[in-house]
Amino acid sequence: MSVVVFPFKREDPDVLLKNVRIAVAHPRVRGVVCIGADEDACFRAAAAAAPEIARATGKQVEVIVQERIGSKRPGKGDGMNTGLRYFLTKTDHKRIHFYDADILSFSEEWITKAEDAADQGYHVVRHYFPRASTDAMITWFITRTGFALLWPRSELPRIEQPLGGELLLTRPVAEALVADPRVQAQSDWGIDTLYTFATVAGGFSMYETYLGVGKLHKLYGTLTDLRTMLIECFSALQSLAEEKVPEGTVHHVEYQGPVSETVKTKIGYNFDGTLALLAQGWTERQLALLDLFPARVRDGLACCRSFPQLGFMDDEAWYDTYRVLLREFQADDPDWQELLFKLWIVRVLGYTVTVALRGYDVAMHHLHGMVERYARRAARAP
Ligand code: DGY
Repeated sequence: MSVVVFPFKREDPDVLLKNVRIAVAHPRVRGVVCIGADEDACFRAAAAAAPEIARATGKQVEVIVQERIGSKRPGKGDGMNTGLRYFLTKTDHKRIHFYDADILSFSEEWITKAEDAADQGYHVVRHYFPRASTDAMITWFITRTGFALLWPRSELPRIEQPLGGELLLTRPVAEALVADPRVQAQSDWGIDTLYTFATVAGGFSMYETYLGVGKLHKLYGTLTDLRTMLIECFSALQSLAEEKVPEGTVHHVEYQGPVSETVKTKIGYNFDGTLALLAQGWTERQLALLDLFPARVRDGLACCRSFPQLGFMDDEAWYDTYRVLLREFQADDPDWQELLFKLWIVRVLGYTVTVALRGYDVAMHHLHGMVERYARRAARAP
């Protein structure tokens, strides 16, 4: 039997409650816990509705505020880790599911598919789904790239959506994550990176199920919307750079199905608004820090102060840039934060006009190929 956890912060209570009702009705589910970042309006609405849902179904439905567990910015990491602790201390169930509270397309299928894979003996089940070719830009250019550079022979770079918040963990995995101080410290957006990393580093088997319907969550404005997430995801990866990860852990990825035209034609972010960011927020120190990077990256980005250039940041230049960032980036330094943001923006915009423009299928093929090329290069010359 399983527990389902929805971490949330300022979500639409109707969407959250609809998802709670779907989850609690599933025959494998014994209890649902909604974990709010604080007591916002969504929290109050969910807390008011929970007793009635519990009464009607005879199952446990709770709405709680996340504990302060980690040492980074209090965020999603504290929410997920609160869920793990609840699961281990308040229940004796075998499995815990996490789902982001904003999934508009949530259905019992998400739970069933995860349970089916866990029934086959996998320790971890992750859901993946089609995303627009200009969505998932942290996933591709930070997380999968970083995994390929740091642990090229492991399964980490081959995980389809390493930042996905939709997953099932069996009890031994939850125990390992709660016992891992690195995971417990990661209270911010870095938590998904840490869970993914720690499950593979811990040698657990993983199954990725494909959900063609996708998540249908809202897309972004300019890439500024993702700035904090970018910095926290990169810092999380950088903090793990010296760690060892075993090769050859069991990892099965369900073959994907056809992708809808809606996803294929969706634009992930506001291009013009993002382009304008390249000329803003420069300091003398950022310019000086650029000297640490290869000449074409330094000169290309410096030019963007007056005239945007994108073509210089190709796959190879991003690999070299990423290596410098792993070595030099300082997470608490505002100039480094801004420089990381700009370098990533150039990378995303450049990819958008040279690759994504050629169509969804070409873009997906390119991105998967890029990660493999990075892994091969890193395996040759760590
Ligand atoms: C990612 O890159 O996966 C983030 O969710 C932003 O889209």
